[in-house]
Amino acid sequence: MCGIVAYIGKKEAFPIVVKGLKRLEYRGYDSAGVALLHGDQLNVYKKAGKVSVMEEFALGQDVAGHAGIGHTRWATHGEPSDVNAHPHTSMDGKIALIHNGIIENYDVLKRELQNQGYIFKSETDTEVIVHLVDYISKKEHVWFGEALRLALSQVHGAYAIVAISKEYPNRLVAARKSSPLVVGIGAEGDFYLASDATPIVEYTKKVVYLDDEEIAVIDLEEGLKLYNIADQERTPFFQQLEMELEALEKGGYEHFMLKEIHEQPRSIHDCFRGRLNAEEAWVNLGGLRDYEQKMITANRLIIVACGTSWHAGLVGEYLIEDLARINVEVEYASEFRYRNPILNENDVVIAISQSGETADTLAALELAKSKGATILGICNVVGSSISRLTDGGSYTHAGPEIGVASTKAFTAQVTVLTLMALSLAHKKGTISETHFRTLLAELEAIPEKVKQVLETDALIEQIAAEYKDASNALYLGRGSSFPVALEGALKLKEISYIHAEGYPAAEMKHGPIALIDENMPIFVIATQGNSYEKVVSNIQEVKARKGKVIAVVTEGDIQVREMADHVIEIPETNEFLVPLLATIPFQLLSYHIAVMRGCNVDQPRNLAKSVTVE
Ligand code: AGP
Ligand code: GLU
Repeated sequence: MCGIVAYIGKKEAFPIVVKGLKRLEYRGYDSAGVALLHGDQLNVYKKAGKVSVMEEFALGQDVAGHAGIGHTRWATHGEPSDVNAHPHTSMDGKIALIHNGIIENYDVLKRELQNQGYIFKSETDTEVIVHLVDYISKKEHVWFGEALRLALSQVHGAYAIVAISKEYPNRLVAARKSSPLVVGIGAEGDFYLASDATPIVEYTKKVVYLDDEEIAVIDLEEGLKLYNIADQERTPFFQQLEMELEALEKGGYEHFMLKEIHEQPRSIHDCFRGRLNAEEAWVNLGGLRDYEQKMITANRLIIVACGTSWHAGLVGEYLIEDLARINVEVEYASEFRYRNPILNENDVVIAISQSGETADTLAALELAKSKGATILGICNVVGSSISRLTDGGSYTHAGPEIGVASTKAFTAQVTVLTLMALSLAHKKGTISETHFRTLLAELEAIPEKVKQVLETDALIEQIAAEYKDASNALYLGRGSSFPVALEGALKLKEISYIHAEGYPAAEMKHGPIALIDENMPIFVIATQGNSYEKVVSNIQEVKARKGKVIAVVTEGDIQVREMADHVIEIPETNEFLVPLLATIPFQLLSYHIAVMRGCNVDQPRNLAKSVTVE
């Protein structure tokens, strides 16, 4: 995981690097560090804790310099501490290097280097790279960029690396494999490097995303040059960023998560804008058009994802199977890739990922590709690794999601999957024209209905106050509301640290019911639809054991209101679209509980937004 930022040019590097690191802190916040080139000094400041801790520490010292690299860490090897923080430096203090990823064979390399007299200060895997670069540059009499290229052929694993050396004050060298890295080309002959575009967009919109096993050499006189590991020069592919700076600010909200929850009427609308028209009765997902026939005739569609994106996949399974009558399987990417799955060219594998960088999801896709399957992606981050690897796909257009807990990305993923299910069903002829039009019209009405759900915030805050001290919680739902229950439980766990489980409502009696007592809150999705009566019975079972029931119901519901301790009403909608509304009260509830418990909502402990390690 971790965030990388670097700058070289005429401006002062420190403020740019620190500001960039703050934007990337969602990727990891165990420690932070910078290395700044000032004249013939290479000053390194690093501290355990957040970027602001390191910033304060550095500000008392020499932070001048026109070239600098910075890192915010999510520890994989070695505890979060000052010494394990990046940058790591060569023993002579000439080279400094930052790294995102894991060097799998670091142990062997470390022993070899120790035999050559290298002394390691940290427990990180990263430190082997800087010593290896130093070793090769001395042994082969090559400059540090060339030494890095040669070192990479000995390194196994994932990396985004940026290195700086006081012997070459006009240069930065970077490389990537599996972990993301983007270069921004400034207007004044200056350059920015970062793990994603968010630290760059404020300065320039002209960028180049590095490809796997590509090395970037940035020289203030010669500009940007790209090479592959075999040292062949590559032509950079320049792109224009579409991101706006305002999207990265909190816009008056106390937390990014709250802002992102409230953005959902707009983000859902942005997601389907130009892709459907209820009046003219069409749906069009441009990036999938060429693959829809393949999806219709495929053996099966396999959705691979992790965490919240996996939950969205489960909703997709209900929709696609029911509406388009196509066989769908939803797999945890991490399990799928190691299971030796049976795959061939008749399968279509769809990855769902907000970041588009999740290592397990990326690896699952690579595996599927190697077996000849068609690979598609549903991603939020434009230009991300998954979006570039796939044959086709759809962006969710939710805008940057900064809060570590996913909210608007989930509803946008479900929106794309709904469009996909409708489009496939229409092409395949498994949906009547009337039903198709009704669902399109209902989907168009969803942003307004999300607004109405958001208006229940005050009530949800009261409910949060009542249950904020619970140590356990259960979330129950049936059909496509079961993944909503899973997602509700995940939200509560990850930001408020309350143990929570999501279950299909009917499964409760096969085990979890044993947990229920008068202290246990049970959140139930009990909206009108096919399984309403069944869910009502499940609520009775909970009440018979004195559990506290908080039910999400359809506006005007009377039956559940009589039984439940609290009800949260959502507007009536077609059963297929309930997940888009029912998930919102749970997002708000987790948010309020986390705030009341004094938790760090946007950066929950031990987590990172973009999980680029396995
Ligand atoms: C969501 O709240 C989580 N923090 C996490 O489960 C996330 O959904 C998961 O890591 C997948 O990320 P991706 O969508 O970027 O691939
Ligand atoms: N593996 C490195 C470390 O533990 C880098 C981790 C990261 O990507 O932040 O320091």
